[in-house]
Amino acid sequence: MKIGICSDHAGFDYKDRIISYLLGKGYDVVNFGTDSEDSCDYPDFAHALGTAVDNGEVDCGIALCGTGNGMAITLNKHKKVRAALVWGVSLASLAKEHNNANVLVMPARFISYRMALACIRTWISTEFAGGRHQRRVEKI
Ligand code: RB5
Repeated sequence: MKIGICSDHAGFDYKDRIISYLLGKGYDVVNFGTDSEDSCDYPDFAHALGTAVDNGEVDCGIALCGTGNGMAITLNKHKKVRAALVWGVSLASLAKEHNNANVLVMPARFISYRMALACIRTWISTEFAGGRHQRRVEKI
């Protein structure tokens, strides 16, 4: 599975560590920046990831900023993106089970790194439930 990942300066530290974690688990990871803690604008990186999802260059994505809101708002402008803002494992599970979220967005300033990894593991391993949820996703 090819996973795209991006952050702004607020999510940079977690992004860096998450990339190492995912590579260690054998995932193919594409880093869309940012690549330092210098102040930057989250849409620049969210659009890069969103475009890659739209074009099928990655199978899914992970995005981090301070609150997660800037990333989620921007990513959801992309036609094929279903970005879910998640800060706990039940939300991570439901984001896939009910919404088939293909981008996991997390608020780096409001969750621990340990929780971010737990959310990623849960989101990756959960299956979309389909059925009535498929109908709802199609209506988006
Ligand atoms: C950066 O200070 C902050 O605004 C950004 O990381 C994010 O929270 C925006 O939604």
